[in-house]
Amino acid sequence: MTSIPATAAKRADELHAILHEHAYKYYVLDEPSIPDADYDKLFQELQALEAAHPELQRADSPTQRVIGQVLEGFDTVVHTVPMLSIRTETDTTAGGAQAFDARVRRELGLAESDAPVAYSAELKFDGLAINLRYEHGVLVQAATRGDGEKGEDVTSNIRTLRQIPLKLRGVSAPVLEVRGEVYMRRDDFEAYNERQRALIAAGAKNEKTVVNPRNAAAGAVRQLDPNQSRKRPLSFFAYGLGDVQGWTVPATHGGLLDALDAMGFPVAKQRVISLGADGLVAFHQAMGAERDKLPYDIDGVVYKVDSRELQARLGFVSREPRWAVAHKYPAQEQTTLLLDIDVQVGRIGTLTPVAKLQPVFVGGTTVSNATLHNEDEIRRKDIRIGDTVIVRRAGDVIPQVVAAVLERRPPEVAALAPFDMFARVGGKCPACGSPIERREGEVAWRCTGGVTCPAQVKQAILHFASRRAVEIEGLGDEIVEQVVDLGIVRTLPELYKLGVAKLNELERMGEKSASKLVDAIERSKATTLPRFLFGLGIRHVGETTAKDLARHFGDVDKLMDASVEQLLEVPDVGPIVATSVRAFFDQPHHREIVEQLRAAGLHWPAIAGTASDAFRPLLGKTLVITGTLPTLSRDEAKDLIEAAGGKASGSVSKKTDWLVAGEEAGSKLDKARELGVAVLDEAGLRALLAAPPDAAAD
Ligand code: IVH
Repeated sequence: MTSIPATAAKRADELHAILHEHAYKYYVLDEPSIPDADYDKLFQELQALEAAHPELQRADSPTQRVIGQVLEGFDTVVHTVPMLSIRTETDTTAGGAQAFDARVRRELGLAESDAPVAYSAELKFDGLAINLRYEHGVLVQAATRGDGEKGEDVTSNIRTLRQIPLKLRGVSAPVLEVRGEVYMRRDDFEAYNERQRALIAAGAKNEKTVVNPRNAAAGAVRQLDPNQSRKRPLSFFAYGLGDVQGWTVPATHGGLLDALDAMGFPVAKQRVISLGADGLVAFHQAMGAERDKLPYDIDGVVYKVDSRELQARLGFVSREPRWAVAHKYPAQEQTTLLLDIDVQVGRIGTLTPVAKLQPVFVGGTTVSNATLHNEDEIRRKDIRIGDTVIVRRAGDVIPQVVAAVLERRPPEVAALAPFDMFARVGGKCPACGSPIERREGEVAWRCTGGVTCPAQVKQAILHFASRRAVEIEGLGDEIVEQVVDLGIVRTLPELYKLGVAKLNELERMGEKSASKLVDAIERSKATTLPRFLFGLGIRHVGETTAKDLARHFGDVDKLMDASVEQLLEVPDVGPIVATSVRAFFDQPHHREIVEQLRAAGLHWPAIAGTASDAFRPLLGKTLVITGTLPTLSRDEAKDLIEAAGGKASGSVSKKTDWLVAGEEAGSKLDKARELGVAVLDEAGLRALLAAPPDAAAD
């Protein structure tokens, strides 16, 4: 055996340390400290070193997150310390917390005059429990909970989770088992399903969507093919311990969570220590209100007696600790009856099936409509009118029908044919009667009526008037519905002919609101080219693409005349977008709409030149806006930054070039100071925007 050169071993150690540090900052703290490309370079250097000297390979190396082999099955792991469950408090009101406190006090034999008990309150994550075993600070095994006594060895899948440290920070105890929840964020879940739907639409046979983030996470963890597992991005929160040897466990649960945080685990920042029940009640309420804003699902909160000594005194009943309780929230999934399937016509004529439901209280509101996406999705899920279905509403995502409960399908429903869009609408657009078509390779049926279809005109107007497009304040569904149905507005540009007198005729529209709306319509004429382009509603052209197109072509005429090849020259524009833009402007009525809007007075500041010769002082710069600026709204400031070639980001990191801070700037300002990021006020921003490119360079 050749011996390893000391320099190689030393460099490998250095690389381990650097890569672990950056990965921690990136994945756990969400504060990238070096560019991705630099990270990749260092990573590759370590890979090369390990390839040349296999003896240098270590289980905790950052390179060991790579995808392993397809497994035959999972090995069984016997938990050294059983993984218990917690008792659930069924009373979802404040009473739940009070009942728990009363029980704890009784079991501890405390009198009313005794001091309040300290509790640690935290979130109850809706994922699956995992036991992570670290030996001498290195991750050696990850196991599912299983039946609590025995679980499955899922180490190779868990290793791919970047949020789980392969090596603990500052702890090298012989044995330390950390427990927590593996979960999938809601945005990752939506993106995963979106991708699955696209794969299925493209003809993939073995692909499926998943019903909720928890099932998605459980499926990913228990996936035998790590390559499949990797496609489902998972996250992790630590909240407890299993077996421990050679490490002093903190005296309180709160102290333990701090210690886990310091070891490099993600620990949810939503946690409090409460003396007595009042703080628990407040926490339950506060988190209930914040639930929709969290990026992941929680199904309740958990209260734990904070002191480990008291925990030991309380002990366990059957398989549950007496010192912990789960206090739930109303469910975000419910079953209800599918009464009918309606078909709605969207902006570009897409026919979308919408479930009409027996109203059901779910995720905090009463839901009576839910999306069914498209015909294929309904067939794949085998959902039929008359079925009992599971409805999910979580966060601000629109309600979805996730599945039919087949056991509860009545025989007459079982006898029905699967959903057929064409048959359902008799082959005609339900809004205008034009024939419908489903093009090769597409999942959606479409109305062929184009601008003659009132449903499409309504959607087009609403989109054009929306906040991120030209923004016509106060122009909502109801008004658009009426003006189109009454024939007052037949095309988008006719919107700009609306006068106070005409609007006054509408239901529930007084003179004052009519003139306010006319003013708003007038104001919307002064817009920006990206907003205008986005507002046109070209398929596949979202806000970002609209900005890219505006920047590249500089005006709308050049864009309308651009060939697919010329469109492909725009950074970030691929064949799908290029073809879609070309197809849009190939339709003469779309060009007419652009002409008529310009004739109606829509205008925007010229964008100087094209990408190559533009005067863009903030090119390549990242700015973050915080607080209230004296004259600019946040959107206006963002538009100005982007027009100058800069990027407006939401969070401060070392990559931020400037923080633009207004009044009541909060944590972002602190963070910027901490990281040494330059801070500007609005005047400073304006100065930057006016500066020649050189002055803006560092
Ligand atoms: S503590 C002995 N804390 O809920 C106490 N569990 O029924 C062990 N869970 O299997 C669990 N969030 O999957 C605890 N903050 C939290 C939790 C949590 C979610 C899950 C976990 C466990 C189940 C308990």
